[in-house]
Amino acid sequence: MLHPFVLDKFTMTTTHHFAGSRSKNQRLLSPVFTTTYGTLDRAVQLQAKGQKKEELKYSGGVNPKPHKGLASKAIDFFETVIVKFMHNNSSLPLYYLSDNFAPVPYETPPTANLHVIGHLPECLNGEFVRVGPNPKFAPVAGYHWFDGDGMVHGVRIKDGRATYVSRFVKTSRLKQEEFFGGAKFGKIGDLKGVFGLFVVFIQLLREKLNVLDLSHGFGTGNTALIYHHGKLLALSELDKPYVLKVFEDGDLQTLGMLDYDKRLKHPLTAHPKIDPYTGEMFTFGCSQTPPYVTYRVISKDGFMHDPVPITISEYVMMHDFAITENYAIFMDLPMRFRPKEMVKENKLILTFDPTIKSRFGVLPRCAKDEVQIRWFELPNCFIVHNANAWEEEDEVVLITCRIENLDLDMFNGPVKGKNEKVTAELYEMRFNMKTGAASQKKLSAPSIDFPRINERYRGRKQRYVYGAIPDKFSKITGIIKFDLRAEPEAEKAKLEVGGNVKGIFELGPGRFSSEAVFVPREPGISSEEDDGYLLFFAHDESTGKSALYVIDAKTMSADPVAIVELPQRVPYGFHGTFVTEEQLQELAKL
Ligand SMILES: [Fe+2]
Repeated sequence: MLHPFVLDKFTMTTTHHFAGSRSKNQRLLSPVFTTTYGTLDRAVQLQAKGQKKEELKYSGGVNPKPHKGLASKAIDFFETVIVKFMHNNSSLPLYYLSDNFAPVPYETPPTANLHVIGHLPECLNGEFVRVGPNPKFAPVAGYHWFDGDGMVHGVRIKDGRATYVSRFVKTSRLKQEEFFGGAKFGKIGDLKGVFGLFVVFIQLLREKLNVLDLSHGFGTGNTALIYHHGKLLALSELDKPYVLKVFEDGDLQTLGMLDYDKRLKHPLTAHPKIDPYTGEMFTFGCSQTPPYVTYRVISKDGFMHDPVPITISEYVMMHDFAITENYAIFMDLPMRFRPKEMVKENKLILTFDPTIKSRFGVLPRCAKDEVQIRWFELPNCFIVHNANAWEEEDEVVLITCRIENLDLDMFNGPVKGKNEKVTAELYEMRFNMKTGAASQKKLSAPSIDFPRINERYRGRKQRYVYGAIPDKFSKITGIIKFDLRAEPEAEKAKLEVGGNVKGIFELGPGRFSSEAVFVPREPGISSEEDDGYLLFFAHDESTGKSALYVIDAKTMSADPVAIVELPQRVPYGFHGTFVTEEQLQELAKL
């Protein structure tokens, strides 16, 4: 039997080969690539035989009904012609399918007794899970980093021992592409130029002629994971959540889609917020029709309250929001849906407008309507992720990663060279609820994003932010710790220890990671805010090996507390969470 790592190295080569062949050969390579995927998948399924769990029944089960037939074949042929003559095939590789952005082609069943360098503290009993884009099938044309099927990578930790597992989020989209044995859903990366119009047309044809079944949405579940009300949710902002079960041995299984007893009719953000004191989950969703944003509150017991409209002028990309003890903060930022510019100016359909001010709406978080929302304006910017927010007397304070001139086309298509324009910096923004004044203050040099905190302080004034340091190639070179009580050293042009930077964990040459998730040494807030560990996946591009890193959040020591060597490459991905032993016991009941 081939060891998973051998299979992975083989497939990485295949993937490079494919990614580097964005030319006329693509259509010839594509079936080979797909067949290779299929063969490996079956091989590993055989390996997993005996460990496979019985299919569970779940009220939100997703069983789409796609159709093969004449219509399907005719559209495939039309698509092939359009791609050949209209898609801007480049000889350069698709960047986000290259190196360690490349997908792993198969799931890895629980693989126990991993080699641990150092020790895994008792508080880490549970499972670290992180999701990211991992397209199962080769794209027919372009590819954006946001496009891949969600794959969850988990490390189950128990009594100092570690087990690794990876599983796809079994979305409606993935199930249908598995049925066809190839990519059939439109991709964000293709929504560019005139070609984008044809992609939309092809998608509509497949839907109208019942080739694809969109009754369960078209999300990927690739963006974030959160535990709430006894469920682990896989999220992407274009769809409803998918529910994951976690088994005692760490294995993961997609149970279905969560619609909160049919009360949820729209997509939800990938970044809901849970109040650690009330247990409520606060969330929102964006839609292409007015009011464009809908705010939702889910009780500790899992009941979704009535929708609250948040009316803005048009459909925007709103990736994150924030809560305080009494408010919810929405961000109306100028990343807009612009089909006309897409065609006329050959731009990606989501386009940043640098001439428009950024708007922040602050609403009492228990509001039943939007009457009391107050909008504040600040200079033009985009924000992908917030760190936290809280209240100070009359002000609402937002700690965020502010970006100048974000171009989402940076994360699309072939290698473009350095993303020099990315200048994400930590900022403090203040909104005065009495005077209506808004202000902002820069807290760091570039670049920092994927900010995380001790979640026990969500919505409350806190001190420490743990950010990821992306380089100009979208790879994370290290983890940085900020002390919000210390003054920033404004004159610094790059991130260095000193001022409000309390520590930087640098991965070293050729090594890159994902965001760091904070796990407290003790539950609650009895211990110090930074008394705990930061967990993240890292990958060594020179050896091709991945590992789970555990570092000390208090000291940010260069010596990791533990490194868990993984039997499988873990591609660079998005967001993770830590599921405690207690939460695992709840998940086992699903
Ligand atoms: Fe995100």
